[in-house]
This record gives sequence, structure tokens and C-alpha cells, in this order.
Amino acid sequence: MAITAIKGFNDILPNESGRWQHIEQAARRVFELNGFSEIRVPIMEKTELFCRSIGDATDIVEKEMYTFIDKGDNSITLRPEGTAGVMRAFIEHKLHAQDPVSKLYYLGPMFRYERPQKGRYRQFHQIGAEVTGVNDPLVDAQVLNMLCAFFREIGLDEPSLQINSLGCPECRPAYRAALLKFLEGRLDQLCEDCRRRFTTNPLRTLDCKAAGCAEATQGAPSMLDNLCGGCGQHFDSVRCYLDSIKTPYKINPRMVRGLDYYTRTTFELVTGLLGSQSAVAAGGRYDGLISQLGGPSIPGIGFAIGVERVALLLGQQDFSRRPDLFIATMGAAERAGAFVLLTELQNLGVRVEMDYEGKSLKSQMRRADKLKTRYSVVLGGNELESGRALFKRMEDGLQIESVLTADAINEIVCPD
Ligand code: HAM
Repeated sequence: MAITAIKGFNDILPNESGRWQHIEQAARRVFELNGFSEIRVPIMEKTELFCRSIGDATDIVEKEMYTFIDKGDNSITLRPEGTAGVMRAFIEHKLHAQDPVSKLYYLGPMFRYERPQKGRYRQFHQIGAEVTGVNDPLVDAQVLNMLCAFFREIGLDEPSLQINSLGCPECRPAYRAALLKFLEGRLDQLCEDCRRRFTTNPLRTLDCKAAGCAEATQGAPSMLDNLCGGCGQHFDSVRCYLDSIKTPYKINPRMVRGLDYYTRTTFELVTGLLGSQSAVAAGGRYDGLISQLGGPSIPGIGFAIGVERVALLLGQQDFSRRPDLFIATMGAAERAGAFVLLTELQNLGVRVEMDYEGKSLKSQMRRADKLKTRYSVVLGGNELESGRALFKRMEDGLQIESVLTADAINEIVCPD
């Protein structure tokens, strides 16, 4: 029996990779315009890094990590997200000593042992961006605007922005206590997960999808009503800055996020087009994370985009690049001549395809159609002898005669 891929791990086939490149190139353009540089970190880290940053009582750490003991008896984990590794590198290489303000982006695979379904996989890809060293709410608005600009750049305007504030170590404990008190009398309505993490992570109940939890949390106290002065002001300023650049958003006081490192601003870009996997990108502020990981006390904020979900939203649009020219040939001598021409044209940046196997003219033209080539030309003995041939524009059949030099052909098939 043939061996198949691991469940929840996908191949990205040639007919999809154009869409992926479109997404990645747009991210690079938009992020670099905003002054971000790429960072590449390993896909495996010491398990402890994720326990300490994402949090022991989160679904990711409790249930979803791919954790192994390696041959040296060390516990290592395939990264379930990018922020922890990037901050580990930021601290380890003392990037803060060069400049505490850094703007970093990354792309690559992440791994979570979740139940696979449309838009949710065990290996998935994120494009993430992180800013360190700025407390000012202006940077929250810039990061959010950059995320929205990315979606505009790839031609999607549907996902809508939701924001919330999760407060800080000063105001969250009191809110947590108030929420615990509220939920205490409703414990039997909560789902098994929420009951289990009732004392360790009660906030998750607020965005739990189970019907009982949604009902039990009706009328629960809101974090936004319990922010301390500093957090309240920060949130108001983020809103003012977003208003000033006309970036639309909705406040969602129930958004909690599945990672423990967040403080203050949190956000998600949500879509109604992907069923229950509604978040196509998400992130927030993590002012305590860098010091929690042993680094200096430097704030941070960032987000990650789920590439598979964005690719699903782009649907079946074809982003693959078509050949500019297909050279069909009548015999071996013409094939040799076509090969020289193909090489010269490629040196000029023209995308050329030709027949390699001496197939019939009919079958060569079928292949030219299948490849959606823009122009085709047939080279026979006459053409080689006269040094001229007819180039056919495939979309409307227009024929243009040209000498058989790379420069002249380039002018016809790639006029700009
Ligand atoms: P996250 O919300 O866990 O945040 O993931 C970000 C995005 O990754 C989600 O909104 C979703 O689009 C995508 N995603 C997550 N899990 C899966 C999956 N199993 N299959 C497909 N797509 C998935 C983080 O990871 C944070 N590190 C984001 C961040 C960066 N916060 C600050 N900086």
C-alpha cells in the first residue's frame, strides 16, 4: 500500500503554490513598507519555552503540543506558534542591546495536535509580525493598520477587525476574582473543559463555544468595565488612533485568546466564510513576556495570520504564472533550433515552453492550451530557413510575423 501523509498535514500542490506566493509576497511588501525585517527561527524549541510563555493551563500546552524526548533525553516541541521562539531569539542574541525597538516578521509552519477540519490542521502556516520596545498605543494602531493593509493588498476586504483589552497584572486579578465569583453558582452549566480549568483559566469560559458556557456567562462582568486607569487610557487611545486613520473595528469584550501572555490590547480578524474557524489572524500586546522569559522588561505586540485560512478565502483564483510562449516544432532539427531560442529568451526573462519528445503538432498545441500559454509559434523547415515565423496570440488568434531573434520575439510576447 502506498504511504500517505500524516493526518492533518497537507501538501501544497503546484496549482495552489501561486496563491501561497501571492500571500507571502504581499506580506513581505506590506511589512517591509512598515520597517519590519525578517527573522528565521528554528521550528523546534525546548518544551519549557512554550510552557512558560503560552501558559501551562492553555489548550495548546495541555493538549496540542507535539512534544518528544530526543536522543539526548531532552524534551523538545515542534513550535505551536511563532512569538515564543522569536522572543527567545530576541533575548538570546541581545537584539535589545542594539535597539530595544525592533520590528520583526516571520513565516513558516506551526504544529498543533488539534482535530483536523476545514481551516484547522495539525501542520499549518503562519505569517507573523512582532514589535518590541514600544508602550505607546500608537504602535497598537499601526500594527492593526498593517494587518488590515495586508488584507487589502491581497484583495480581501471581508475579514473584520475585533478588539478587546485583557488588562494587566494590576487589574486582571480583581477582574478574575469577580468572574470566578459570578461563575461559581453556575458551575454545573459549564462544559467539562471549562469546569476543569475553572480555577486555572476562568476567562476562557467567556469565549467558549459550548452552548451551556455561553448561557452561563450571560451578564458576566466585563474586563472592559474593570480596567485600571492605565489600561483604560491605553484602550481609549488605541481606539482614537484607529478612528483617526478610519480603520473600522468592533469591540468584542468576550475575546479572550488561547495564549496566556497577552496584556491590554488583543484582537482578531474574523470572517463569516470559514464556518467555525472564523479567525484568519489574531494577536495582541504581551508587555510581560520578554521579562518572563528572562529578558529585560520590554513590552511587545504582534499578530499572526493563518495562511491556510487566507488561501481558502482567496478561493479558486488562479495566481500561477502562465508561460509567455510555447514553441511547437515539426522535427528534430527544429527542436534543436527551438532549444537555442528558448535559452536566449529565458535570459531575457521570457517564460518559454517547448515540446521535448517529438509529439505530433496537434498534441503540442493541446499542451500549449493546457498550459494557458499567451503566445505560440510553430517552427518548421521553412521558418528556420527564412528566419521568420508567425506568432499567434492565443486569446484571440491574432497572428504577428517576426524575425526569429530573441530580442524581436521578446518585443512581441512581453512588450512591457
Ligand atoms: P493564534 O490565535 O493561536 O495566535 O493563531 C493565529 C492564527 O493562526 C489564527 O487566527 C488562525 O488563523 C491560525 N491558526 C491557528 N491554529 C490553526 C490551525 N490548527 N490550523 C490552521 N490555522 C490555524 C498565535 O499563534 C499568536 N502567536 C499570535 C501573536 C503573535 N500574538 C502576538 N504575536
